[in-house]
Amino acid sequence: MKGIVFTEFLELVEDKFGLEMVDTIINQSELESGGAYTSVGTYEFSEMLQLLQHLSDHTNISIDNLLLVYAEHFFSVLENSHPKLIARYKDPIEMLASIENHIHVEVQKIYPDAELPTFEVLEKTDTLLIMIYKSSRSMHYFGLGLMNKTFEHFNSSADIEFEKIKEDGTEVKFIIRKNS
Ligand code: HEM
Repeated sequence: MKGIVFTEFLELVEDKFGLEMVDTIINQSELESGGAYTSVGTYEFSEMLQLLQHLSDHTNISIDNLLLVYAEHFFSVLENSHPKLIARYKDPIEMLASIENHIHVEVQKIYPDAELPTFEVLEKTDTLLIMIYKSSRSMHYFGLGLMNKTFEHFNSSADIEFEKIKEDGTEVKFIIRKNS
């Protein structure tokens, strides 16, 4: 997992819960990195899971909800760091349907060691998008947060439902209905 995901996460934790919480969750985790992340580095996903688990234990917020809130913050990081990737889209459904064939393809070129999910589009109209998320990292709540912010970015909104295809969240079907 890319370092920027860790550095931005710890900044958000510091903002919301204070520096002491950052120290606590780092100290409670067994981190090969020692918790010293740089935005350009690459680290084990298991480190993120430990940080999330300990934050969840201290705050009583579920890991899913932490990932949702974090993704909403991370969208603005992406907007600022990769504006050109987003600028070519005029519509949220078009943008979300293009993660697999354009956005994440470019991301993989920029960060060859990025670990990205796949999104398979099953159905697409002007107002409906059905796609299957697949990733060994089960970060579908992170995807949901990014989807919410994608609609907000275009001053639009949507009802987004999902169904787990696999109980562990490694395969999830998203049904996205744009509000008109
Ligand atoms: C992960 C880039 C848009 C879904 C990531 C990561 C980067 C990235 C750098 C981390 C990879 C790693 O740590 O190895 C971008 C950029 C975008 C964009 C630059 C737009 C300009 C989106 C959107 C979605 C999305 C709109 C909506 C669903 C995800 C998910 C992950 C992820 C779910 C977590 C990894 C996983 O589930 O396996 N993306 N992304 N991304 N991205 Fe994107």
